[in-house]
Amino acid sequence: MHEAVPLNPWVALAYLIAGVCFIVALRGLSSPATSRRGNRFGMAGMLIAVVTTLVTHEIASLPEILGAIAIGGGFGWIVARKIKMTDMPQLVAGFHSLVGLAAVLVGVAAYLNPEAFGIVFPAGSPDAGLILPVSRIELGLGVAIGAITFSGSVIAFLKLNGNMGGAPIMLPGRHVINLGTLAAILGLIAFLTVELRAPDWVFWTVLVLSFVIGFLLIIPIGGADMPVVVSMLNSYSGWAAAAMGFTLGNTAMIITGALVGSSGAILSYIMCRAMNRSFISVIAGGFGGDSGGGAAAAATDRPWKRGSAEDAAFLMSQAEQVIIVPGYGMAVAQAQHVLREMADKLKEHGVRVKYAIHPVAGRMPGHMNVLLAEANVPYDEVFELEDINSEFSQTDVAFIIGANDVVNPAAKTDKSSPIYGMPVFDVNKAKTVLFIKRSMGGVGYAGVDNDVFYQDNTMMLLADAKKMVEEIVKSLD
Ligand code: TAP
Repeated sequence: MHEAVPLNPWVALAYLIAGVCFIVALRGLSSPATSRRGNRFGMAGMLIAVVTTLVTHEIASLPEILGAIAIGGGFGWIVARKIKMTDMPQLVAGFHSLVGLAAVLVGVAAYLNPEAFGIVFPAGSPDAGLILPVSRIELGLGVAIGAITFSGSVIAFLKLNGNMGGAPIMLPGRHVINLGTLAAILGLIAFLTVELRAPDWVFWTVLVLSFVIGFLLIIPIGGADMPVVVSMLNSYSGWAAAAMGFTLGNTAMIITGALVGSSGAILSYIMCRAMNRSFISVIAGGFGGDSGGGAAAAATDRPWKRGSAEDAAFLMSQAEQVIIVPGYGMAVAQAQHVLREMADKLKEHGVRVKYAIHPVAGRMPGHMNVLLAEANVPYDEVFELEDINSEFSQTDVAFIIGANDVVNPAAKTDKSSPIYGMPVFDVNKAKTVLFIKRSMGGVGYAGVDNDVFYQDNTMMLLADAKKMVEEIVKSLD
């Protein structure tokens, strides 16, 4: 059925090695300390897969291929060098749109010229030249998932990049429209599969409806939920690639697509669980506009204590242990470098410094880890939630910099809170809490007040995170 490629054992072996490289790469990416090595394995695997495909297929002339690689590679190189860390989510969304589009283009090419892909009934059969039913399923699903990934990722890119408002856009009856469109897509793919002589409009309608549903699915989702959506689209792009791998008879593509598809799905699940939101409620949309969840702003009539940079510097220099909890505000202020300077100064004073990272601190997976790594914070000072949470009760100072929801005790005590059930840091158990944010009125992503602001042992340091930490560093001299 498919042409020679998978039958050649050397090609199969090369693809297998590439697949193993990708698995080792994913393993390496699970920790900041091994992530560079993981990336290298990923690059090696991709090189093996690309070279094997090029030398075993008559695809196009070498100059054409090299020209395409130079254009794509050059573009990727420039983007990778220019992109700011804070723009990473939209870059990822942009790249996913290209994966989706590639799957669509391969699918369309295979549909228009199935003989070239070896997916037709053989000569002599009554249906000679017609596309095989199994290939129709692969094509239909691959093109549909690819088109959804494409249009969904374009909307995600526009929202994250600020070209489109982040607020959810709710169409009346959207659930009915979405379910109806999805049912129509699946029905048409089923028809295409059983009716070998189905007219061409069936295939093209699947394609158009899939572009439309990708758009419809993402517009009701608020900007703040976009990281989960991007991870979900990442998963879709993997499944689209895997489906096309079957059409092309390319094992490497099937393995890679399945790895991307399943790891994206697992990541979406982990993110939702860490935020205590159901996957369905994210996909159903409507939460998290431009400035957070939109719930009540912080009540400022309760008594609270304001501190200065000098107070903070004095308290921390006297401490045995300080745990730093970074959050979204640190990322916005780009305070990670000066924060590391502060930690270095504290260490000179004999203070033990640790960083506590919540799985959903910031706005993208690994957001804080990436920023701290950029500032050369030693990995062995960085701890995950479950490894450090019990230490707050024996810690002199919890230093919260631009975090809010991830240190909100309401997640444990207030059943009506939108973050109820989300695991949070027990910063309120530390002897002293230093809390950096710009104003008492500002709220975090979930838009809720935080009892920690008003605790007896909390000192609010109201300023831009970078400016405040710069002042603290000066006071520590
Ligand atoms: P948030 O709860 O969003 O709080 C951010 C805090 O930073 C606010 O209190 C804000 O108060 C302050 N802030 C903003 N700009 C600042 C600046 N320049 N200087 C100083 N402070 C500044 O952050 P978090 O604790 O990191 O929690 C993350 C939230 O995002 C969670 O609810 C999570 O579920 C959600 N979320 C996370 C992800 C991922 S994957 N990480 C994805 C989607 C949603 P002011 O305005 O008063 O300064």
